[in-house]
Amino acid sequence: MSLTLDILGSLKRTHYCATVTEAEMGKEVVLMGWVGRRRDHGGVIFVDLRDRTGVVQVVFDPKISEECHARADHLRAEWVIAVKGKVRPRPKGMENPKLKTGYIEVAVTELKVLNKSLSLPFQIEDYVDVGEATRLKYRYLDLRRPSVAKNFILRHQAAQAVRQFLSQNGFLEIETPFLTKSTPEGARDFLVPSRLHPGKFYALPQSPQLFKQLLMISGFDRYFQIVKCFRDEDLRADRQPEFTQIDMEMSFVTEEDVMAISEALVQELCQRVFGYRVDIPFRRLSYDEAMARYGTDRPDLRFGLELKDVTEIVKESNFKVFASVAQKGGLVKALNAKGGAGLSRKEIDDLTKFVGEFGAKGLAWIKVRGSDWQSPIVKFFTEGEKTALAERLQMEDGDIVFFVADEPEIVHEALANLRVELGKKLSLIKDKLCFCWVTDFPMFEYDPDEARWETVHHPFTMPKEEDLKYLPDAPEKVKSHSYDIVLNGVEIGGGSIRIHRTDIQQLVFEVIKLPQEEAREKFGFLLEALNYGAPPHGGIAFGFDRLIMLLCGCESIRGVIAFPKTQKGTCLLTDAPSEVKKGQLEELSLRIKI
Ligand code: AMO
Ligand code: AMP
Repeated sequence: MSLTLDILGSLKRTHYCATVTEAEMGKEVVLMGWVGRRRDHGGVIFVDLRDRTGVVQVVFDPKISEECHARADHLRAEWVIAVKGKVRPRPKGMENPKLKTGYIEVAVTELKVLNKSLSLPFQIEDYVDVGEATRLKYRYLDLRRPSVAKNFILRHQAAQAVRQFLSQNGFLEIETPFLTKSTPEGARDFLVPSRLHPGKFYALPQSPQLFKQLLMISGFDRYFQIVKCFRDEDLRADRQPEFTQIDMEMSFVTEEDVMAISEALVQELCQRVFGYRVDIPFRRLSYDEAMARYGTDRPDLRFGLELKDVTEIVKESNFKVFASVAQKGGLVKALNAKGGAGLSRKEIDDLTKFVGEFGAKGLAWIKVRGSDWQSPIVKFFTEGEKTALAERLQMEDGDIVFFVADEPEIVHEALANLRVELGKKLSLIKDKLCFCWVTDFPMFEYDPDEARWETVHHPFTMPKEEDLKYLPDAPEKVKSHSYDIVLNGVEIGGGSIRIHRTDIQQLVFEVIKLPQEEAREKFGFLLEALNYGAPPHGGIAFGFDRLIMLLCGCESIRGVIAFPKTQKGTCLLTDAPSEVKKGQLEELSLRIKI
């Protein structure tokens, strides 16, 4: 058997498929791509030829080339072909105004089959309903679908826009190591065993946090990187074990400076790449305000439906559930789903189950029907309490009000989630981009399991100067110079001004009971570096996948990651993680215990 490798022959591509338009009318073009739909119309064969730009109709007409027409009869879906032919107008009535190439077709004079394809596990079309597992196993085929591919083209353009904007603003792109030491972002580390140092491990970075601070101490002044981060945590629609950040750090800046450059970056990206107008500055809410009004530090501001505190109103009421929670120092909060009185009993039961997932022990409600209140709890309230509730919650005919009473954490989590659920259910969420900053986070939170204080952001975040006095004895009162950026209810970035002085750093370590020795072992290199002229500095990191997901209108970040992992952290395409050969383990001085 003789194998020939005349791969492309004399053919040289002149155009991408979807770039052939009326401007090329009458010209000869050479196209290469995949066979999409094929139709046989009374002796003339039409093929949608596809590449990453889209499709163009090519025609095999026996009157133009009998040989090509005969061979086209054998073409099957996803075969790879090259064609030469002349661009001509489509016959009257055959135009497709939805396509860029909808007014022309290419009449083929030369056909070369470059490769064949097995029959496909699913069709390469935009609206084909296939399970995600199959799509991920054959991700390379999934990525051929124009609607999927489009997101990656936008992602590329976004990365370019970020690089250009930041470079123009004096930022230097500097790479930081992947084989490194643990970085304290609050997740579990992925570890890499060292062959040369048996029993020792590298950790993959949860972010370049410590290195970007070192780069400021080096004097680089403005750093950025579009960089992979690795976190071994439970996965969700907007969480992957490896994801990409736009990571930035700046010297001699205040919070305001970091926020201003971030806003300008986001504005540029949205406008230039996605064509969305974005007004700056973004709205700002303090952490306390966000929690009070929305029950979450990542509020979706596309709709109202704010939480209202009614604790004082129901404190003395005869509804024991509310009264006892209020008297024990808990919270009773409510939200008024305007116009939602039409919700059925079954829907209310489902919502009660829904808030139960967040720890709420019940979901009390009142429907307003004319001057009538329908509710299982209304009988417990006096006229005075009812008037106060009606006023506080602005209750009107057709409304339904929901209440949760519990410890503040549970009330907020349950109602924040209920708010979004009702927003969807009652179609309150407008199709627009709502950015906001959440600022003034508490510096510490108490971890009851460990019985000690933890930092809310990482421990290098600068406490507010006016709160330094509370550091030793009242850590709950200390706020920090930190800020999160939120888009439509998703945290798309976060950062802070850092501690650049060892004395303050030491005070923070004391609050979180991090013994000096452990601090030195974990990030002694940073603590030492702070002693050699560390400039005041701060920065931010954007979750690039999340930002692109929202701007592309995807439901999950898997839609904008070429080869994502499943919710269980597996790669269905490569079968990772997988077992390794015994020899490999031996080289690494490892033994598997299970
Ligand atoms: P933080 O931990 O808030 O901050 O991360 C910054 C942003 O990264 C995104 N993100 C994720 N995206 C996808 N999958 C994940 N598992 C995941 N985890 C986080 C979020 C988040 O807002 N070093 C600090 C930044 C700084 O202080 O400058 C940091 O990493 O959108
Ligand atoms: P019960 O008296 O237990 O039948 O409850 C009356 C109503 O109050 C029901 O609609 C319950 O869902 C609701 N409910 C019970 N506990 C709570 C709570 N902690 N917060 C809000 N509503 C509650």
